[in-house]
Parts: sequence; structure tokens; C-alpha cells
Amino acid sequence: MFLFNYFSKDIGIDLGTTNSLVYLAGRGIVINEPSIAALNNKTSQILAIGTEAKNMLGRTPQHINVIKPLINGVISDFDMTQEMLRYFLKKIGGSGAFLNYRRAVIGVPSNLTEVERKSVEDAIVGAGVSKAYTIEEPLAAALGARLPINEPTANMIIDIGGGTTEIAVISMGGTVTSKSLKVAGDKFNEDIIRFIRDEFSLAIGEPTAEELKSTIGSAVPVDQKLEMTIRGRDLATGLPKEILVKDTHIRAALAKSLKAIVEAVKEVVEVSPPELVGDVLRRGIYLCGGGSLLRGVDQLIAKDLTVNAAVVDDPLTCVARGTGIAVENFDQYKQILDNPLIPRDIRT
Ligand SMILES: Nc1ncnc2c1ncn2[C@@H]1O[C@H](COP(=O)(O)OP(=O)(O)OP(=O)(O)O)[C@@H](O)[C@H]1O
Ligand SMILES: [Mg+2]
Repeated sequence: MFLFNYFSKDIGIDLGTTNSLVYLAGRGIVINEPSIAALNNKTSQILAIGTEAKNMLGRTPQHINVIKPLINGVISDFDMTQEMLRYFLKKIGGSGAFLNYRRAVIGVPSNLTEVERKSVEDAIVGAGVSKAYTIEEPLAAALGARLPINEPTANMIIDIGGGTTEIAVISMGGTVTSKSLKVAGDKFNEDIIRFIRDEFSLAIGEPTAEELKSTIGSAVPVDQKLEMTIRGRDLATGLPKEILVKDTHIRAALAKSLKAIVEAVKEVVEVSPPELVGDVLRRGIYLCGGGSLLRGVDQLIAKDLTVNAAVVDDPLTCVARGTGIAVENFDQYKQILDNPLIPRDIRT
């Protein structure tokens, strides 16, 4: 019995569209890898998962498929998701094959249906965890950012991930108003690919778009001019071509998507109870998720909503850290798991 307890572990999981993280209670984040798997489609054999699979993106022969088992934060390929989780959990166990997982708290988008939520729980249990509990991602993010989520004051969190942007006003451990839109980091990449194609008649792949976004991308005009040389295939000649891209180009490419996010934030504010709007005005808006690393996105939101906005520390890990805090302090937080408080909701 003693031995069983000794090896029995609790974990927190952020199963994201782009990145999956696992927090081991008492240790911290032990897994941080892309949510990607490479599959031999002739034999159905899994060739690689995580970082190793991401390195194969765009460079595989016909019989190898690189797949993302989650779309917009929702499991689209149940079996692959489970395989991926199993792989991560095994990796944590290392040579200690006796590692047993007692409890997992996993972050899920706030607008999941009951069936989708159940499928997340099933995937976790199927991967070898005795009990799975879900927590709404905005709550986990707020916990990870050490915001006072149990107090009767509102906190507004915007999580710009890979697949979705989740906007939520939370108070007293529950989501009061929220909205989720499928405009986030992946859409930014698509915007950039389309812009480069239309403007320069150049075909580029997603890794190049991603590099442009994080190197010279910005949501508001920047002080110093940023530029980057990229290579792609000229759509007219079919030959390789090199062009110089400037920050103004990326801003133009992203303008429409950023506007959609700002409009959604305004909608959430509009339907929130006035007292809570007062709290948000006083406390400001918190941004997290990898998309919040886009230069100036906090300034854009602050300017358009005339409210202070700031990116939390380490925005890529805050949901995972939040799930870790919840599982480490399970008795304190169990009432906010699985059973969200939904007094006024505009879920879309
Ligand atoms: N410096 C950066 N500038 C702009 N975008 C960035 C930067 N770094 C990472 N990103 C983007 O952040 C996104 C991934 O963020 P994150 O890991 O929070 O998403 P996720 O949790 O996997 O997705 P979701 O929450 O939608 O399921 C990617 O689209 C990536 O391109
Ligand atoms: Mg996320």
C-alpha cells in the first residue's frame, strides 16, 4: 500500500491544438511538446509524436502523414489523441514503469458539449489515469496567472491559442460570460500565407509564416522598422524566389483577424453584468496563450477598449500551471472542476 501511494502521481494537462503540456504534481511542467503525430498510412504505425513529429512537417514522403489530432481545442482524432497522451505519460514515467497516475485535471475550452468533454475524460482514462477531471481553460489560465479567482470580483482573461481565442469574464470560481472564436495563431499563419501569395505571388509553407509572425509581426505600428527575407516558390514561374517582407505587410495581413478578436472582446464586455464590467475596468484585462506573444496585441486591446491590458508571465504555460495548481490543491478547487457556474452565458 505504501509503495502504491509512493508511486501514485497527480498531473495537470493542457491538451492544446498546437502544444500539449503536462504538469507533474510536486515537480512542475515535465512535458511541453507540439500536439502532432506522424503516421505511416500504409501500416497505420505511429512513427513519431511531439517535437520529433513536428520536425517532419512538410518534409515527408507520400506514405507518411503528419496529423494534428486536435482541431480548435477539440479532439478530432480520438485514437491519436489517446496515443499521444499515452506517449507523454510514459515519457514522464521514464524507467520507473510502476508510475501510476491517480488523478488528472485537464483544461478544456469553455464551450465544449457534454459529449466532447466526456471524450476528453475518456482519452485520459484510456491513457492510464484512474480519474480525470476537467477545468475550463480560462479558469485554469487565471489560476496559473495567480489571479484571485474565488473572490467576488471579476477577472477578464483572453487566451489566444493556436486554434481558438477564448474570452471569459470569471468571478467566484466560475465563468460568468465567455466567447470562443476560431481565430487564433493558426488563422494568423493562414492570413500571412494568403497575403504573401496575393501580394508577392509567392507560395510559402506554414513554418515560414510562423517565423514571419513571431519575428516581424505586430498588432500595432512599431518604433523601429522590422523586416525579414524569405524564400518560397514563385507562382508564376514555379521557381524559387526570395523577397523582403516588412512589418507593415504582416500588420496588413493580420488586421482582419485581430479586428475579429477585438470585436469579440467588446461583445463579451457588452453582455457582462455592470458590476463586473466595473471590476474589469479597475483591474484590467489579462492576456495569455502563445498568440498573446504577438508584438503589441496587448496595446491594441488596451487602445480599442480603453482598459489596461497586460500579458501574463509565461503565457504559453499558464493553463498547464493552473491545472497543476488545481490538482495539487484538489480539495480546495474540486468545486470548480467539472461543474462550471454559468449564470449568464453567451457561448457561441
Ligand atoms: N512570439 C510569438 N508571436 C506570435 N505568435 C506566437 C509566438 N509564439 C507562439 N505563437 C503562437 O502561439 C500559438 C500556440 O499557442 P498555445 O500553445 O497557447 O496554443 P494551444 O494551447 O496549443 O491552442 P488552443 O488553446 O487553441 O487549443 C501558435 O499559433 C504559435 O504560432
Ligand atoms: Mg491553449
